[in-house]
Amino acid sequence: MKRISIIEVKELTKVFDNNIRAVDGISFTVKKGEILGFLGPNGAGKTTTLNMLATLLRPTSGTASINGYDILKEPDGVRRSIGYVFQDPTLDLELTGRENLDFHGRIYGLERDVRQQRIREMLDTVNLADRADDFVNTYSGGMKRRLEIARGLLHYPKVLFLDEPTLGLDPQTRRAIWEQIQRLNQEESVTIILTTHYTEEADYLCDRIQIIDFGKIVALDTPNKLKARLEGDIVSLTFKTPQHARQIQQMLENKEWIRRIDKVANGNHYVSIHPNIQKIQRSRRDERADGMASNMSYVQASGAEKFSKDMLGADNKNVQHESKRLNLLVDNGGSRVPEIVKLIHGTEIILESVEIHKPTLDDVFLTVTGRNIRQEQGSFMDTVRRHRIIRHARGQRGKR
Ligand SMILES: Nc1ncnc2c1ncn2[C@@H]1O[C@H](COP(=O)(O)OP(=O)(O)OP(=O)(O)O)[C@@H](O)[C@H]1O
Ligand SMILES: [Mg+2]
Repeated sequence: MKRISIIEVKELTKVFDNNIRAVDGISFTVKKGEILGFLGPNGAGKTTTLNMLATLLRPTSGTASINGYDILKEPDGVRRSIGYVFQDPTLDLELTGRENLDFHGRIYGLERDVRQQRIREMLDTVNLADRADDFVNTYSGGMKRRLEIARGLLHYPKVLFLDEPTLGLDPQTRRAIWEQIQRLNQEESVTIILTTHYTEEADYLCDRIQIIDFGKIVALDTPNKLKARLEGDIVSLTFKTPQHARQIQQMLENKEWIRRIDKVANGNHYVSIHPNIQKIQRSRRDERADGMASNMSYVQASGAEKFSKDMLGADNKNVQHESKRLNLLVDNGGSRVPEIVKLIHGTEIILESVEIHKPTLDDVFLTVTGRNIRQEQGSFMDTVRRHRIIRHARGQRGKR
């Protein structure tokens, strides 16, 4: 049976005053009951898209409808139809879990009896019933996130937006939240858009994944179909120096048994040299550089540059390091290793490690964007904000 769409987005665009084109003409539809993932790195435009859909931010152009309501002409209808779990924590820490939910229920005009019943129901669903009357400042990061999800669903929305639902949480807590999201999607028949930069999260949870990069959708498909784009094995080679990687790359470029060669990030820093995407990547990055420069000068003026280095563990003036690692997409990866070793034999090139794996969504991201998803691409202030959320979530881990 063909499911009907509950969200329709047409050419949605947001250009901020600083000329940053955060969202660049995106169009897509979401079917009723679907979980759609927005997978993209720091600064890709995920939150900006959700904010426009939630009527919190006016698009520069384009439009969208949710549950039949137009985001520009019928914002009240849209707001009644959605629940939003924001990327930044928004709970009142000085209230109990139950009081936070009660406050939200009153804003949405839920009658007392209905409200109290629904609060009990949602506290049970997210396993917080026994902590409901404790102050939220005694909750762990995972508990707070679960309470925010319960709050997002309190007023029976048809659509739920989850902006980075597990950012900064430990793997065990993250998995518990994934299971709850899945259950809520089924039990509450709620359509979900979630944003994430964790490929495992998108793979586990989403019916379809939209890869978003520099404000554009660069791929949209089911997790399996995305992975099937890369048939074969990934042979990942790490060399002693970037120069060695460059030399071997030249030697491998004409081998017909290699379907792709990608250079891969060292930590957060990354340079791609995909011939087919290099040009567009460069021009869009230049656009971003302007925005970044203005943010950096603000930070330097406030004397926070050292803080930035400590926090990011890197010198921000030198964001691009050349990579020592190459990924080859080939058939029967294991059988190609001796050939690669033979090529290197007798040269000065030192191969430090070889790893073979089946393509993952990380590899898909790399091939469609030319970059590693873990690379920071947002402005300096975006990165600081993100690290603050992670610290906040981790700081509370001890509290169960
Ligand atoms: N109010 C604003 N004014 C100017 N630029 C902004 C504003 N909000 C976001 N941006 C810029 O727009 C781009 C997209 O930001 P957005 O927050 O949508 O990214 P994101 O994909 O949600 O990133 P993250 O993973 O860090 O949450 C970034 O370059 C960001 O710096
Ligand atoms: Mg965001």
